[in-house]
Amino acid sequence: MQQAPQIIDDPAGARFLVPRTAFTSRDVFDREYAAIFDRCWLYLGHASELPEPGSFLTRTVARRPVLFNRDKDGEFRALLNVCPHRGAIVCRERRGTSPAFMCMYHGWTFGSDGHLMTLPGSSGYPAGFKRDPQKQMVPVPRMERFGDFFFISFARDGEDLATYLADAGDVLDLVAQHSASGMQIVGGTQEYAIRGNWKLLAENSFDGYHAACTHSTYLDYLKNANGALGATPLAGVGRDLGKGHAMVEYSAPWGRPIASWVPLWGEQGKTEIAAINAALEARVGTERANRIAHLNRNMVIFPNLVVNDIMAITIRTFFPTAPDYVEVNAWALAPHEESDWLRKYRLYNFTEFLGPGGFATPDDVEAIEKCQIGYAAAGEARYNDISKGMGRADGASFDDEEQMRAYWREWDRRLAMAEA
Ligand code: FES
Ligand SMILES: [Fe+2]
Repeated sequence: MQQAPQIIDDPAGARFLVPRTAFTSRDVFDREYAAIFDRCWLYLGHASELPEPGSFLTRTVARRPVLFNRDKDGEFRALLNVCPHRGAIVCRERRGTSPAFMCMYHGWTFGSDGHLMTLPGSSGYPAGFKRDPQKQMVPVPRMERFGDFFFISFARDGEDLATYLADAGDVLDLVAQHSASGMQIVGGTQEYAIRGNWKLLAENSFDGYHAACTHSTYLDYLKNANGALGATPLAGVGRDLGKGHAMVEYSAPWGRPIASWVPLWGEQGKTEIAAINAALEARVGTERANRIAHLNRNMVIFPNLVVNDIMAITIRTFFPTAPDYVEVNAWALAPHEESDWLRKYRLYNFTEFLGPGGFATPDDVEAIEKCQIGYAAAGEARYNDISKGMGRADGASFDDEEQMRAYWREWDRRLAMAEA
């Protein structure tokens, strides 16, 4: 086995270099599945996606087919969506409501808790066959919820979810506190794929340095759309949230449906936004209310959950199928009680900037794919520079790269730990 590529992390020399083979090597890719995706807590879905007993949806998480559902008592469950008989996918629908699931191959039928209810031709099996533990659908080894966010882990042991999330948990709470009555996933799933390494998307999702250059078209568009920009300047910080999670938090001139007004929303909108601000303050206190209403956050929860709370909120997760290919799923999150006109702006902002047909995502995909093409020369042009702001005495700025260094250090630690 070849030596794992080495990150050069040299605080004294203000040097942080990531070898480009980390994005191209099949050996690194295999190690990432063993050391990271098979070990870490991974995002599965949001409680609002399963509104009632019997609700289900199917997802692929770390290459496994997973059935995320609620049983007849309303309990949330995560089952491997695999038939105990001969291994076919049991539920082939994307989502729906059902009290039971029948495998299409030989017709074994399972309850919403995964137990084998009926099987055709049961006289061909010994008595008690149906109750054999090995003939039941297999639960995902661990599932925990943090608020309404559900995570799973394929590792049977390890730290609990709240410990794993470290300070990122408080940021998830902050996002949940946008609403007094609960947050919900709105609309469907945005699905797309990128011909690039998955870590490039993690980096890109909280890269405060690239927007002015990569997204100049969007910024020009906002400037020219009457009243879409306020006077607030772009300014903020980068923060290490522990255990590889990190974020940038910053003010920005665009409108936030919760609750930064821009002239485009008119006088009526101004009154409503002021009321939301007042209610937020009464509920969570002035300091936290200001943070919720006026600051933007781009957070990456290691290894692959992005929560971008900007001109809309996107929840985004992604899994690689090869070193140079990643499949992405993204959802919009919004307060239940949001009024129709604000919801309209939120969803407009969401598709306009964050969607795969919007102003940002195609630009970001282009940047990521161009990097991946460049890495064909990883043997000669060997390192990425991630040193911006390293050793800055007064703390990291939102457009430094401290958040990426926190991420890469955890990546490095986990790979080294698995090696040992
Ligand atoms: S594979 Fe499912 S019933 Fe045979
Ligand atoms: Fe971007």
